[in-house]
Amino acid sequence: MRKALVLGAGGFIGSHLVNRLKSEGFWVRGVDLKFPEYADTQADDFVIADLRDQQICRAVIDQKFDEIYQLAADMGGAGYIFTGENDADIMHNSATINLNILETARKRNCQRIFYSSSACIYPSHNQEDPDNPNCAEDSAYPANPDSEYGWEKLFSERLYLSYARNYNMECRVARYHNIFGPEGTWTGGKEKAPAALCRKIAEVPDGGEIEVWGPGTQTRSFLYIDECLDGTIKLLRSDKLGPYNIGSEEMISINNLAKLIAELSGKSITINNIPGPVGVNGRNSDNKLIQAELEWAPSKTLKEGLSKTYQWINNQVHKSNQ
Ligand code: NAD
Ligand code: GDD
Repeated sequence: MRKALVLGAGGFIGSHLVNRLKSEGFWVRGVDLKFPEYADTQADDFVIADLRDQQICRAVIDQKFDEIYQLAADMGGAGYIFTGENDADIMHNSATINLNILETARKRNCQRIFYSSSACIYPSHNQEDPDNPNCAEDSAYPANPDSEYGWEKLFSERLYLSYARNYNMECRVARYHNIFGPEGTWTGGKEKAPAALCRKIAEVPDGGEIEVWGPGTQTRSFLYIDECLDGTIKLLRSDKLGPYNIGSEEMISINNLAKLIAELSGKSITINNIPGPVGVNGRNSDNKLIQAELEWAPSKTLKEGLSKTYQWINNQVHKSNQ
């Protein structure tokens, strides 16, 4: 039986990935500081552990896994990564995890390992125009990410590329662009814009007002979780190292995102744009490279994914009010 290890299996993408790998017949071990918050894990073995500890990494990578997915990180949306208050923790925690995991995997002869980098590695000077951002893979250097989170991701990308080069490991690196869907963080300060806006709209009555950070003209693209898993697994099993963007090219302004969610909710809302952590003015995935080299591209529209996400968050809001 094929064996997979999912690090960060208690988180949003990791918990969905465990389910996907189980449906493919894998034996799966998940590791995280916590169990998934919204559904029971389907992992065969779930270890609650802190991957900043190298001894723990040795204990959880105690055998040869066919596939390792390294998703564990100290991360969150704009309200977590752009305030500056969490910079030291983000850099220390995530870099330590990556250093520990790669070295342990190498020693255990686990060759094939996926690393989840981020669109946040791209230079801020290429993302000033909301209508025309440049996030092509080869635009990453000279580097100028707008957050310490992005700098840590860039460092760790280079770490994985170095292990591939020097130790012939089959490392695979993706740069995710804002992944969303049911069972993602929707409250508490780490939630990203799609979940935050779904929550705000679910919480107000018809005709109500919601607060949206920044001018609302800043743009992003959002990729639905199922599509993210397709791209992730395809990349890991390919013979290509990356880095590749895994994202959607359906760019939208944040105010228009709020309006689209309001339409799906059936409510009429007013948007109040307030000061807040904004990040770059514009960002969009550029899928030319991954489409050409891996024949991967998302197939669902933003509206389809948002519809499922809004329904799920609306239920969570109503449950938490009971
Ligand atoms: P998430 O926060 O839901 O999951 C990350 C998990 O890592 C959490 O469950 C957390 O408890 C775990 N973790 C953190 N520190 C740990 C430690 N010391 N030991 C063990 N586990 C630890 O985030 P996600 O959205 O599922 O993202 C998964 C990966 O993809 C992360 O590396 C993230 O940076 C990257 N990424 C995500 C997005 C996105 O939009 N979701 C975008 C770009 C990159
Ligand atoms: N989170 C959040 N909550 N964002 C809001 C809100 C709100 O209530 N209102 C407006 N926004 C705006 C933010 O100010 C930002 O300009 C935009 O929506 C997108 O915010 P996020 O979705 O939180 O983050 P991001 O796209 O800037 O960065 C995220 O995506 C990266 C990958 O593309 C983060 O999750 C990163 O961790 C991730 O790597």
